[in-house]
Amino acid sequence: MIQKFLYGDPIPTEAVLAELPVCTAELPHLTQIIGKDDLFSFTSALSEEDIVYGLGEAPRGINKRGHIYESFNSDDPYHTEEKRSLYGSHNFIVVSGQTSYGVFVDCGAQVTFDIGYSSYDRLCITPSVKDFTLYIIDGKNAYDIIRQFRTIIGQSYIAPMWAFGFQQSRWSYASADEVRKVVAEYRKNHIPLDAVYLDIDYMEAYKDFTVSEERFPAFKDFAAEMREQDIHLVPIIDAGVKIEEGYSVYEEGKKNGYFCKRQDGTDFTAGVWPGRTHFPDFLNPEARRWFGQKYKVLLDAGIDGFWNDMNEPAMFYTDEGISEAVDYLKKFDFECNDSGKFFELGSRVGGLANRRKDYAAMYHNIGGRMVCHEQVHNLYGYYMTRAAAEAFQELSPDKTILMFSRSSYIGMHRYGGIWTGDNQSWWSHLLLNIKMMPSLNMCGFLYCGADLGGFGANCTRDLLLRWLAFGIFTPLMRNHSAWGTRQQECYAFGDTQAFKSIIDLRYRLIPYLYREYTNACKNNDLLFKPLAFDYPDDTTARHIEDQLLLGSSLMIAPIYEQNAVGRTVYLPESMRCVLFKNAEVSHSEVLPKGWHYITAALDEVPVFIRSGCSLPLCPPAESVARLSTSSLIEIEN
Ligand code: GLC
Repeated sequence: MIQKFLYGDPIPTEAVLAELPVCTAELPHLTQIIGKDDLFSFTSALSEEDIVYGLGEAPRGINKRGHIYESFNSDDPYHTEEKRSLYGSHNFIVVSGQTSYGVFVDCGAQVTFDIGYSSYDRLCITPSVKDFTLYIIDGKNAYDIIRQFRTIIGQSYIAPMWAFGFQQSRWSYASADEVRKVVAEYRKNHIPLDAVYLDIDYMEAYKDFTVSEERFPAFKDFAAEMREQDIHLVPIIDAGVKIEEGYSVYEEGKKNGYFCKRQDGTDFTAGVWPGRTHFPDFLNPEARRWFGQKYKVLLDAGIDGFWNDMNEPAMFYTDEGISEAVDYLKKFDFECNDSGKFFELGSRVGGLANRRKDYAAMYHNIGGRMVCHEQVHNLYGYYMTRAAAEAFQELSPDKTILMFSRSSYIGMHRYGGIWTGDNQSWWSHLLLNIKMMPSLNMCGFLYCGADLGGFGANCTRDLLLRWLAFGIFTPLMRNHSAWGTRQQECYAFGDTQAFKSIIDLRYRLIPYLYREYTNACKNNDLLFKPLAFDYPDDTTARHIEDQLLLGSSLMIAPIYEQNAVGRTVYLPESMRCVLFKNAEVSHSEVLPKGWHYITAALDEVPVFIRSGCSLPLCPPAESVARLSTSSLIEIEN
């Protein structure tokens, strides 16, 4: 049962598609209190055994208990445990215990979830505004509640099958020849590959919907040349539009009033990669349609995949921020001997990016009304992706375009997937990636994945191999790394056989993965599930967070610790443990329910087949187009 409660006059988010009546009965499960600044808080007691699921892209474990989270889409590459916000805001939680219930706070502004942080036995949810919609969902258990929630928010975006191939990215492959070299290395080493990403340097001066003639001459021919080798080029699109006289996107946006404004009605300006930019007002349907149509120039060049970036939106600086910092510096007493003042100096100068003050100075045109960005901050990336997806339906009705975004909100799951932003080459981020997948699925995001190998910092061979050994199960399987870091393509660490061993297995698994993924999308189900969802009476399974159920037949138990030669694995029922090496079965054994120690070398991957299930495998191939799905073998349990 789902009940909808309305507070004030919320700005529509279109996260929920189902038309539900507004409930006037008393709010179940939560106590409503009015606190500071007349803001509502909703609290509830948490009992010792309660687990709290949800929140999608958020730090820490599958059970969100013990921490405080702030839904406020943030461009922050250091996803450490104490962080409260990441790039997406997914305000759905499920309290699972003696009584279970779900809560969705539909609100484009910041929402705080104190899940047993201030007090371990208390949940407290506080929207930062007075206008929002609250949904309370009752059901048999957490899984049932999640399925009901997924039903009201509509079916998740289904990516094309080629997007289940392995994808190589880097900031940046800055010329056609560099891309050719990457492809040649993969093909020479017979490591499968389906896509190469074009980061910001493919553009002319970081201007959206342009291609550098100098570095990527005859782009359409180049895209065709790549497609002949079964390679899809996937260019990045950034939210900010460069301010430059004569640049048509800028000129049109300015002329038609499609950019976000300052309070005085002038176009809001902030610095991002191209220097000073304006932000398209994606919340205005006309501006959204205009921006969406811009993708046509790349679709016409043969492109069929995109990633939308910097759409929190990220702001490196504003002129206002710089002048405040400069004024501060001018007045600074350098003779003073107060270390507190020196710390303040550092934060004044170092804190120019993504200032709340700047977000508060930006305005949208929503139905003719000027709305402060702070009220709808979490919707911006969602509506950018919606702009593209709606245009694709019109421009490319017969072909599914790959689309995923950095920033997101529930509702965007119908238009594209997400990648989890700028992580680091840290073992802890491999574990975070594992734990985040089921939470993302709960909130509707099924086509997702992390930057495999880590974006920032220098990756090592062992980390990349272990990360790929998990990444072969995630729908988006993309190796991406930052400018200035060590190269981390699969051929960059000397021998390539171990990498081939793992990625070949991915391709053998695609028939299973793609079937289970599309079924999960169509049936509002999860691709990745915590063990507790299918083994609700097993008290050990209930608390396991580093093993996941994958589709209907498999359980996975990735190795995520440096130097580990294996790991303990809990089987909630008898399962067949299959160890793959060189994408062939090197060991297969039925193990009883209980704890086991499983060893796997860096080039090996263990997979567990559930009782009564089977795993179909196709022969390996170097691209999805070359997969033969007609000759499947089945490994049964
Ligand atoms: C942002 C993106 C990253 C990209 C970089 C340059 O940091 O998150 O993936 O490589 O910008 O475009």
